[in-house]
Amino acid sequence: MSSSVITRIGSLVTNDPALGEGPLGLLEDAAVVIDGEHVAWVGPSAAAPAADESYDAAGRAVIPGFVDSHSHLVFAGDRTREFNARMSGQAYTAGGIRTTVAATRAASDDELHANVARYVAEALRQGTTTIETKSGYGLTPHDEARALRIAGDHADEVTFLGAHIVAPEYADDPAGYVDLVTGPMLDACAPYARWVDVFCERGAFDGDQARAILTAGAARGLVPRVHANQLGHGPGVQLAVELDAASADHCTHLTDADVDALAGGRTVATLLPGAEFSTRAVYPDARRLIDAGATVALSTDCNPGSSFTSSMPFCVAVAVRDMRMTPDEAVRAATLGGALALRRDDVGRLAPGARADVVVLDAPSHVHLAYRPGVPLVSAVWRRGVRES
Ligand code: NIG
Ligand code: FE
Repeated sequence: MSSSVITRIGSLVTNDPALGEGPLGLLEDAAVVIDGEHVAWVGPSAAAPAADESYDAAGRAVIPGFVDSHSHLVFAGDRTREFNARMSGQAYTAGGIRTTVAATRAASDDELHANVARYVAEALRQGTTTIETKSGYGLTPHDEARALRIAGDHADEVTFLGAHIVAPEYADDPAGYVDLVTGPMLDACAPYARWVDVFCERGAFDGDQARAILTAGAARGLVPRVHANQLGHGPGVQLAVELDAASADHCTHLTDADVDALAGGRTVATLLPGAEFSTRAVYPDARRLIDAGATVALSTDCNPGSSFTSSMPFCVAVAVRDMRMTPDEAVRAATLGGALALRRDDVGRLAPGARADVVVLDAPSHVHLAYRPGVPLVSAVWRRGVRES
C-alpha cells in the first residue's frame, strides 16, 4: 500500500469540528496524509509525516470529494426539444419521462453502460467521488433489473425507482402497476439495490401508492428515500419522515408541518437546485429548513428531463445565490450532507479513517465555489486514495 501527503493546503475543509474551526472543521496551512484508500493523518503542514509521494497544494483549498446522493444516470437519448419548449414557456410535467423510457428500453446494454460511465466520469472531473444513481426509465421487471445491474457497475449506491411514473402499458390500470412494482418487479430488482424510491407527486404516485411501494421495498430490506414535494404540496415529505426514509428529495413546496416533520426526524432534506434551474421553477428555501433544525443535502438530480447537470459546484453556486444558504452551509451540504443522506460515515469528511476522497480547488478557499460560478475550479481529485485527475 502506498502513501502520499498533500502539503501546504491553504484552507482545508475537514467537516469534522473536532479537527478545526466551526462546523466545517476548517484548518489553515494544513496537510493530509493518505495511506492506501484512507486518510491516515490530518494536521498542520509543518508537522506532516513523510510519505512515499508528495503533492504541493501551494496554498490552494482542499475539500472532501462531493457526495452526489441523487442522480438518474441509466438512460438513453436526451430531451433537448422538451428543454427548448420549456425555455419558450411550456411547463415541466412528469409526462416527459415517457420519452426517456422509450429510448432506454430500446438501448443496448453496451450503450447504457457507456452512458453511465460517461456521466460518472464527467462528475468525477468536477469533484464528485461518491455517487448514487437510480433505475426508473425501464418500468418493466426486466428493464428495471437491467438498469440496476448496470448502475451497480459504475455507481457507489443504487436505488430502485420502478415507481418513477406508471408504465405506459398500465396507463389505464395504475393499481395494476403498483401490484407489478411491489410484486414481480421488486422480486427482480431487490438483489441489485440498497434503496427504494417513489416519485410521490401529482401525475406520478399518490401517498397511498407510495406507502405501499416503500413498505414493500422495506420488507425486502431496501431503505426508503422519496421524491417529495417537487411540483406542489403533497404527502411525500411527511410519509418519508414517518417511514424513517434516509432522505426526502426536492422539498420545494413545504408547509410548516412538513418543515417541522423534517426537523423532528432523521430524514435528510435533499435539495436539487438543478431541477428548479432547468424547469424555471421557484427554488426550495434551504434557510427555512436549516433554521428549523433540519439536515440539508445538495445533489444534482442529474437526468435528461429536469436537470441535465452533473456538476456539484454548479449546485453549490445556485444554492448560495438563490436558496439562502451560506457558502459554508452549501459546501457542507454537498459533501457531508450527501453522506448523511446515504447513511454513510466513511465519505463526506476528511479525518483519519475516512475514505481518501480529496478535491484540490484552484482557489484559496471553498467559498470560491459560489463566488466564481461556472469556473472549473476542481484541479486535482483523489478517489479511494488514487489520483484520478
Ligand atoms: O427528480 N422527479 C422525478 N424524476 C426526475 C425527473 C425525471 C425526468 O424528467 O426524466 C427528477 O426531477
Ligand atoms: Fe430525481
